[in-house]
Amino acid sequence: MNNHELSELFTTIIKDFNLKGELIGIECVSTGNINDTYTIKTVYMGNEREYILQRVNHRVFSNPERVAENVCKVTDHVERKLREAGVGDIRRRVLRYYRNADGNYFHITSEGDYWRVLSCVYNAISIDFADIPHLRQAGIAFGEFQNYLSDFPAETLYETIPDFHNTKKRYSDLKNAAVKNTAGRLSEVREEYEYLLSMEEKAVVLCELSEKGELPFRVVHNDTKCNNVMFDSITGERLAVIDLDTVMPGLVAYDFGDAVRFAANPGGEDNEDLSQIYLDLDYYSAFAEGFVPSVYGKVTDKEIETLPDGVLAITLELAARFLTDYLNGDVYFKCKKQRHNLLRARAQIKLAKDVFGKIPELRARLESITKKI
Ligand SMILES: Nc1ncnc2c1ncn2[C@@H]1O[C@H](COP(=O)(O)OP(=O)(O)OP(=O)(O)O)[C@@H](O)[C@H]1O
Ligand SMILES: [Mg+2]
Repeated sequence: MNNHELSELFTTIIKDFNLKGELIGIECVSTGNINDTYTIKTVYMGNEREYILQRVNHRVFSNPERVAENVCKVTDHVERKLREAGVGDIRRRVLRYYRNADGNYFHITSEGDYWRVLSCVYNAISIDFADIPHLRQAGIAFGEFQNYLSDFPAETLYETIPDFHNTKKRYSDLKNAAVKNTAGRLSEVREEYEYLLSMEEKAVVLCELSEKGELPFRVVHNDTKCNNVMFDSITGERLAVIDLDTVMPGLVAYDFGDAVRFAANPGGEDNEDLSQIYLDLDYYSAFAEGFVPSVYGKVTDKEIETLPDGVLAITLELAARFLTDYLNGDVYFKCKKQRHNLLRARAQIKLAKDVFGKIPELRARLESITKKI
């Protein structure tokens, strides 16, 4: 869409959502796999206001209205908690989704695009690869998110993506893909496949504890990359957790694990140079130093104790998913280069091996954090 078309569409959306003021500026924030995000500026009685407009890939979620309802239940709860705690500047601390004149969360264009309107966390930045101070703040942000939602009835949320972190199911998908061998690639990935099978028992440890009732299902974010936290652009302090589409019932250790898996691996998710892929312990500590004190007292000792297991489980699970997709002929994840899914699987396997070797150190560092609380 060119600028003129965007401006016409956004003017329509402003009317539809009854936003205050006239459109005076549009800035594209990001165009990604899931969402295209714009900041718009309006002026109302001499004051400028900012909103976020997002075109969402509604094909990822079969029922976008229900996803939005999940998000709003959660953000309303967080907002209540922030008010009770006397936190100021609420609009920078929690998202709000707007409803249009018909009471819907989406403006659907004649082309079938779904657009939504969010409050803007202003004077703030997001960071793709956080340094240690920002990572500590990201830990606080996701920890507080968990803390505020610890008394929210998780079972009232709609399961946006069923079995999202059902590691057992992910492993069974992998085995099925190997049996079918649709793309004829099994012989090429024998080593990776055997490794993942050899780690299955460790990967499913948390699922089993949850089945035995030893770990509760809570409201979890499910996409705890540090770029889903907004930071104050001057002080670097955490403001709000964003990108809430995957909020669902789940295990705390998976949120913790995924954040560490992503942020504490300096090599990235698809680096062919496996020597660059490892778990940086200082990054792990930074996130844990933010996260653990923020959830302490709101989750059980067992949940805290099993946080390092979450790092291993989520890394193995993701490796299994990439390898499954490679075996199936690359039907799920978007591939940008040849054998992309295999490279991704190898990177996660390298990381999983490193995490596994470091588990005693991860536990020791966790213990020293909890001792100081
Ligand atoms: N409410 C908001 N206030 C300020 N900035 C926002 C807000 N929502 C999103 N952004 C900015 O837009 C970026 C993308 O938004 P979001 O995380 O919701 O989408 P995404 O699903 O990650 O999109 P992508 O497909 O690009 O990964 C964020 O990293 C952030 O910089
Ligand atoms: Mg995001």
